[in-house]
Amino acid sequence: MADATVKKAGAAYEYVDHAFDVVVVGAGGAGLRATLGMAEQGLKTACITKVFPTRSHTVAAQGGIAASLQNMGPDHWQWHLYDTVKGSDWLGDVDAMEYLAREAPAAVYELEHYGVPFSRTEDGRIYQRPFGGHMQNFGDGPPVQRTCAAADRTGHAILHTLYGQSVKNHAQFFIEYFAIDLIMTDGACTGVVAWNLEDGTIHRFAAKMVVLATGGYGRAYFSCTSAHTCTGDGNGMIARAGLPLQDMEFVQFHPTGIYGAGCLITEGVRGEGGYLVNSEGERFMERYAPSAKDLASRDVVSRCMTVEIREGRGVGKEKDHIYLHLDHLDPAVIHERLPGIAESARIFAGVDVTREPIPVLPTVHYNMGGIPTNYWGEVLNPTRDDPDAVAPGLMAVGEAACASVHGANRLGSNSLIDLVVFGRAAAIRAGKVVDRDAKVPPLNKAACEKIMDRFDRIRHANGSTPTAALREKMQRAMQEDAAVFRTQETLEQGCKRISEVWSGLSDIKVHDRSMIWNSDLMETLELENLMANAITTVYSAEARKESRGAHAREDFTERDDRNWRKHTLAHVDEEGRVRLAYRPVHTEPLLKPEEGGIDPEKIAPKKRVY
Ligand code: FUM
Repeated sequence: MADATVKKAGAAYEYVDHAFDVVVVGAGGAGLRATLGMAEQGLKTACITKVFPTRSHTVAAQGGIAASLQNMGPDHWQWHLYDTVKGSDWLGDVDAMEYLAREAPAAVYELEHYGVPFSRTEDGRIYQRPFGGHMQNFGDGPPVQRTCAAADRTGHAILHTLYGQSVKNHAQFFIEYFAIDLIMTDGACTGVVAWNLEDGTIHRFAAKMVVLATGGYGRAYFSCTSAHTCTGDGNGMIARAGLPLQDMEFVQFHPTGIYGAGCLITEGVRGEGGYLVNSEGERFMERYAPSAKDLASRDVVSRCMTVEIREGRGVGKEKDHIYLHLDHLDPAVIHERLPGIAESARIFAGVDVTREPIPVLPTVHYNMGGIPTNYWGEVLNPTRDDPDAVAPGLMAVGEAACASVHGANRLGSNSLIDLVVFGRAAAIRAGKVVDRDAKVPPLNKAACEKIMDRFDRIRHANGSTPTAALREKMQRAMQEDAAVFRTQETLEQGCKRISEVWSGLSDIKVHDRSMIWNSDLMETLELENLMANAITTVYSAEARKESRGAHAREDFTERDDRNWRKHTLAHVDEEGRVRLAYRPVHTEPLLKPEEGGIDPEKIAPKKRVY
């Protein structure tokens, strides 16, 4: 039942008001792990999600979750830390990366106890497979089996378990609700406004703490492994709240998206012995990365594939992709450990993986950048005097956040562990800083009115450009100008094209004005969110005059630690003007060597070779 009806520009909005200790926006792995952790502590917790929780994009995560359990051989959290620092190309924050590597085993055992059906070794322990960039002995090798797997459906298993546990712990779910904007009061977040897609009511949530767990923005690109729902909604809300986005220039291309379809073929295939081949039948990765070969880190493998294609050694009629072989593997291994990719290859590429290679191409997969946070998930609003200042009442976790544990390039299987370690950390922190006995802050109705003015303006947008047409323009510009390899020329062109798309937002046409199941309106709200992500990505990339991790410039081919070992902060205003600033990387480990911590010399910057 609605609490109030408010008229606006000829349209009536039914308002329903709520008060919670914590509101989590998003129900992927990070959102659900945060929701569960909050609810377990007795905090009155709501989880708002635009899709049914078990359809969140985490469901598509295949290969596994990294943790140094040592089930398959020697491993150590310090080796995991070293690999993550090196994978990040020395841009990640060392305190956050140490927290990730140290807490990973406990977080995985918790998942096991919650009920995640991991694959098993002969003696009943969690099965672990090799993944790119994960090595023994501080990078010296050989590859380590660190990635805990539930066949090739690990994300699916985790998501279903966490949703069940959250319901069991009385978290309240608001399913198929689209979060429109954060309610900001004197620089603090005091809630969120959301649209119930099913009945058209507007819900105003007052909260002591809001946690953004809205995922990445892969759909800013034309070809990606991300679901259509990955539209960077939380990042858009942050930008509109006047807060910065961090390290947006770092966009990961996964080496093995299915050619033409973009669907993910897990790195676990190469972990189980699969390999890449060019038109000459050559296992070319042996030439580029003699030690790790096909298990070098993703940015490296994606660049090598791109070079092979550019130099005329691509496969197929157009010589524009690469083959991934697993036809030499025992069909029993494929059946037991990779059943999902065998199905995807059959459906999307028409390939029987036991007989033929899969046609693959580097495809946009992950955003290393996002909402800056500390390793407790608290959102940062850096000032000149305090680069680690916190925005009160606001947390971010998962791919939406930039903690920053992935720096300039994420290692495969470090994203699932990021989701659960930092979802859990946010809950631990909220348990300390949220006062259960205090009153929920009163609803800031003036701020809600402003949010609804914008919503109403978009709902009644009556220009001449359909949303889908403008979205495609954005996606093509991003795909062509902010790609695997970048130059000043492509990036300047990208800035120009994306700024033109931003101007085009004022000429958008929303055809459907209804409030119920209106995908036209929702896609337009999503496009505005995507644009905040796209414009900060391309402007941040143009400014960074070096190559680091996934940001590979052909005109600045070396990493430049003296000038560029720093995080980019990008603000974008209503007119689409981007303002850039920088904050220092955290280079200090949490534990000192005498406390069992890593020797800082071990993680000092050096040349990154695999
Ligand atoms: O290749 C994969 O299974 C993807 C995993 C990841 O992105 O961490």
